[in-house]
Amino acid sequence: MELKDILAPLEIELKKVSLLGGSMAVVVVPWDQGDMAMRAKRETDTALRCGDYLVIGVFGLGGDEASSQFLSIPKGIAVFPKDGPDMQTLFFEAVERFNLSKGSAPWVKSLWEGIKESASMDTEGDGEAKFMGSAFYQFYAFMAAHAPEMGRVVGQMSQADRHWIEDLLPYGLVRDLPSREGGRDEDIERLMQEWGYQERLERKRDLGRGTLRKFRNIEHLFTLPSISQEIIALAEDDMVAASRMAKVIEKDPVLTSRLLKVVNSAFYGFRRQIVSVEHAVVILGNDEVVNLAFSIAVHQIMEKIAPKQAALLWEHSLMVAHLTQWLGGIMGCSSTSALYTLGLLHDFGKIIFLQRGYTPSDYVSLSSLEELAHEERETGLSHAEMGAFVAERWNLPEDIVDGLLGHHLPSKAKDICLAVAVHASDAIAHLGALDLDRLNTVAVRHLVPDKMAQLSAEVVAKRHEYIKARVHTLLDM
Ligand SMILES: [Fe+2]
Ligand SMILES: [Fe+2]
Repeated sequence: MELKDILAPLEIELKKVSLLGGSMAVVVVPWDQGDMAMRAKRETDTALRCGDYLVIGVFGLGGDEASSQFLSIPKGIAVFPKDGPDMQTLFFEAVERFNLSKGSAPWVKSLWEGIKESASMDTEGDGEAKFMGSAFYQFYAFMAAHAPEMGRVVGQMSQADRHWIEDLLPYGLVRDLPSREGGRDEDIERLMQEWGYQERLERKRDLGRGTLRKFRNIEHLFTLPSISQEIIALAEDDMVAASRMAKVIEKDPVLTSRLLKVVNSAFYGFRRQIVSVEHAVVILGNDEVVNLAFSIAVHQIMEKIAPKQAALLWEHSLMVAHLTQWLGGIMGCSSTSALYTLGLLHDFGKIIFLQRGYTPSDYVSLSSLEELAHEERETGLSHAEMGAFVAERWNLPEDIVDGLLGHHLPSKAKDICLAVAVHASDAIAHLGALDLDRLNTVAVRHLVPDKMAQLSAEVVAKRHEYIKARVHTLLDM
């Protein structure tokens, strides 16, 4: 079960409190002192177990008052509205304070503080902060390169903290982490200090701001053709009539002729000629036509800014778009309309880097942690953050921006289902198979065991082949 599901009952209480404008203290105490804590709990308060902790939602109290209520128990306290907008943030704030008050080893403390800081950066500061703060790949790559030490660090953490760190790493690595071994505390502390977490994070942020400043005003990159904006706006309305949709598309003759060419190709295999956009909308449906029109518009931009690399990346983008649509359906993601676009744009950041002469990770293979760290060292952000930045400039829906940001790091996404769908589809497109070891740990937690029955090696390989064949008929035109 996911943390947010465990905390769901408290989330409901928090919503009520925030509607009424009151306050709520979230108190985290060690589970083995639960009895004592339950004696201090009042009738109106809610309590539930979360891993090694007992979590109590105390209503109408500030931090000091809540603290005095649980006087004799070691605890962490976070208070709404000051410490966080949602239950998960409040919970982690409280756990963090609990860990600090417990006086854990300094290296665990500094590790925890660093990760917490980069995890919370997207909630503060200006609009660009979220693109710099959503990930710190250099650090994740550093952790991956020091697996024995990491094993020791996570081996001594509680379940909740442990998940948080493991979810940043590839599953193949987490599965083999040696636990509670591999070095003394002093060695690990020195390792962390020598690496210089804080300085590197600051350098990354400065660099990232500089990069975004350079890219911010490139007109042709950041103005999605207005026709695409109109199409996307229409797509939000399920009931829009075919004639209205056709009218918008037909304003652009190039788009219209390309669209008609595609719908009459072997890709769709219709026997009768489709002669008008309206006809295409009636036969294919709104969603399909929107996806097509949007793909054509994106391809035009891609070709314009990086013609040499566009072809390979375009094929990969189409593969991932179709795979994400399929996988997101199996996974039951709620936001189905975002799936295709998300897959189509997932590596758009690479194209942007290429046109400015940056060398992104090898743009035709699955990005490793080390490659993402390399992009970040050079520019301050990875292609995932860059692509999300552009998507936001295009005014694309928030769930798409968020999914792009999290396509290599789904644990940081708001809609984990969407991010896992595109993350796993990217891997399938590259490898032709679903290799769990190459996925991020949170993706594996999400897919196993619920969905794996529907994703046998045979099913995945067949679907990959099928989509590849369809994409090729499209590309041959
Ligand atoms: Fe990517
Ligand atoms: Fe990719």
